[in-house]
Amino acid sequence: MKQKVIVREVGLRDGLQIHPTFMETDRKLAWIAAEAAAGVSEIEVTSYVPPKLIPQFADAAEVTTAALQVPNLLVAALIPNMKGAQRGIELGVQKLNFVMSVSHTHNLKNVRREPEESVADFKNIVSLIKEQPEGARPIITGGLSTALGCSYEGRIAVPAVVKRAVQLVEAGADELVVADTVGYADPAQVREVFQAVLKAVGDVPVAAHFHDTRGTGLANVSAALDCGITRFDASLAGLGGCPFAPGASGNIVMEDLCFLLDSMGYDTGVDLEKLVQVRQIIEQSLPDIAMQGAIAKAGLPHGYVPAAQREAA
Ligand code: COA
Ligand code: ZN
Repeated sequence: MKQKVIVREVGLRDGLQIHPTFMETDRKLAWIAAEAAAGVSEIEVTSYVPPKLIPQFADAAEVTTAALQVPNLLVAALIPNMKGAQRGIELGVQKLNFVMSVSHTHNLKNVRREPEESVADFKNIVSLIKEQPEGARPIITGGLSTALGCSYEGRIAVPAVVKRAVQLVEAGADELVVADTVGYADPAQVREVFQAVLKAVGDVPVAAHFHDTRGTGLANVSAALDCGITRFDASLAGLGGCPFAPGASGNIVMEDLCFLLDSMGYDTGVDLEKLVQVRQIIEQSLPDIAMQGAIAKAGLPHGYVPAAQREAA
């Protein structure tokens, strides 16, 4: 049996939040449906933030409701606070990705709270979820932004990351996401940080969220795999970036991540050819957006046999 790796699309949130042009709701839904059909089983479809602050997500309710109809898809959304959690629960979203930053300055800029206030918010969100009837309780993820560096504070101390990870797990996180929001990480640092977090949080699954701002994204994936990480965020065509972190740019490219994993023999469940086709939806609806991607440009190697077919051969 090949080892499963879960790839999660975050481009509809991380990719679009920094882009000034509104992507039409039906185009977002076409993207979600096509990527799910290509085998991506989890998509962060939107963000429950004030539309005044990020107008791109003014259609969050419509996008969530429609995404919940897509077969074989876990529908997730970002939340920065309790209000976001309430909106998500009302809509019946399946997963809430709470975000706070390890960097004090970034937390203040991004969610306008002291980190301790964010931890307190997270505890209240977990309580709210527990009050919901069975079957109406979304999975709650604790996201740690700027865990591998911050464009205000520079290097982030490993114990600071571990401290926040433990706080969120003790508060009831079902999963953690450790994020290199501004693309500062290198593979050695990834090993150090992820090993420390994994040791501290026991059985709680830890996912990795890397940006390729400085070209280290896929090398960091490889280092995280070595630590036993099997959940990765990425975005189609490498869109991405936090509007409240100077210099932030694209996430690792979903197509290239899937190729890397597939070629190493991991089971992603994704059809690479179909995945690359999904780029057309972005190209057509946002012609001015910068799209990255080595596999889309170069194509699969001559005679490439996908991992799923290799075993049978
Ligand atoms: N969704 C919609 N509206 C929200 C909201 C949410 N999640 N959270 C707060 N609001 C509304 C409040 O109801 C209030 O509305 P009112 O003025 O009509 O009364 C207003 O926004 C201000 O609320 P407040 O709690 O004081 O928020 P704030 O101004 O301190 O901002 C955040 C805090 C968290 C809402 C804001 O900083 C934010 O959305 N940050 C996320 C940024 C982001 O998405 N970054 C990229 C992803 S990492
Ligand atoms: Zn990000």
